[in-house]
Amino acid sequence: MSEGPFKTLIGELTPPMRLMMTPGPSSIDPRVYRALAAPVVGHLDPWFKTCMDETQILMRQVFQTENRVTMPLSASGSGGIEAAVLNTLEEGDEAIVCVNGWFSERMYEIALRSPAKITKLEVPYGRAVDPQDVRKAGAGKKIKIVGLAHGETSSGVVTALDPFRKVADELGALLIVDTVASLAAEPLNVDKQRLDIVFSGSQKALSAPPGRSPITVSPRTEEVLRNRKKKVQSWYFDLTTAMNYWGKDRLYHHTPPISLIYALREAMRLTMEEGLQVRWERHRVNQQALIAGVEAMGLELLVKNPKERLVTVTPVMIPASIDDAQFRNQLLDEFNIEIAGGIGPLKAKIWRLGLMGYCAQKANVLLLLAAMEKVLVDQGARIQAGAGVGAAIRSYAGAEAAVATKA
Ligand SMILES: Cc1ncc(COP(=O)(O)O)c(C=O)c1O
Repeated sequence: MSEGPFKTLIGELTPPMRLMMTPGPSSIDPRVYRALAAPVVGHLDPWFKTCMDETQILMRQVFQTENRVTMPLSASGSGGIEAAVLNTLEEGDEAIVCVNGWFSERMYEIALRSPAKITKLEVPYGRAVDPQDVRKAGAGKKIKIVGLAHGETSSGVVTALDPFRKVADELGALLIVDTVASLAAEPLNVDKQRLDIVFSGSQKALSAPPGRSPITVSPRTEEVLRNRKKKVQSWYFDLTTAMNYWGKDRLYHHTPPISLIYALREAMRLTMEEGLQVRWERHRVNQQALIAGVEAMGLELLVKNPKERLVTVTPVMIPASIDDAQFRNQLLDEFNIEIAGGIGPLKAKIWRLGLMGYCAQKANVLLLLAAMEKVLVDQGARIQAGAGVGAAIRSYAGAEAAVATKA
């Protein structure tokens, strides 16, 4: 046996402290890091059961729901898609999935693995699906679910949910909504908007570490799940058995990542301490300033319709003269800032600037704009010095004046 690998001494873990202005994961509040370091207890410890109760109370507050079935799945956001789609669809069912980017495409891909017949309604990246097209596609059919992404992270598009609720009602369908990139940043009220299954991810606007997918299920969907003819293909993501642990009996299902639950609980506690409306507005104001800044530097946005701009992800077209990888590497090496490139058809065409949860702060927006200006100028772009930061400062001043006038 070669001795090589066994002789290698591995040093202490020392990850760099990056500013994560990406579409997730986002930077984490120090208070959430403290929760992560708290002592691990058993998953059936009486104290932990109370911690679970509190986690579910907070999750209902963040989702704005009284749904009994509300819990964090032991999974990243993709697990939420899988649970939502595979629990509802059976042999003989039909579903419509609205696809306007990489992640709604993932919902379609996952739905294809169910035995149901799936219709894909697709629009180009950068736009939202028209609910009218869902109405047309579903006319005369028995549609079990309509699925879509509230915030499509790959293209920075937000979809208005109410028109889809209306169409789903007309079709007699359940509405399944991916809020991985929008929960705690975009206005959402699960009960008022009568959404049937809504899931998210811990690592985006909640600013907890990746690895938990909060999910909530309406009472009428619970009924649908109870009446399934066959068991869900996935044992791990079968929502009815998973709820035996998160329900009143607290029966063992699997050993959950205790520390990640602490972190999520703290991240949601901070969200509610701030207040949902205040948090939504904070995201909006910071994105407005970021947009003012990038436009003042002569950069163009991918999403043309301001009403369709997702507050957490601002996609910016990469100018022809700028090298994508070099630009992002310099931001990382020189300023410790991570942003993301494009994916799918938008690879090497856009940068995605993330403003999620703890990251969505004035100081971060101004730093990012200043750093982008420096790196663009280094690559030969001609930008008036301070144009981006100046425009952002004016945008903040306008927002602050509007608040002062209201008070
Ligand atoms: C809208 C959306 N849905 C689903 C996912 C998948 O989540 P994860 O990568 O946590 O599995 C993402 C990830 O970025 C996302 O943005």
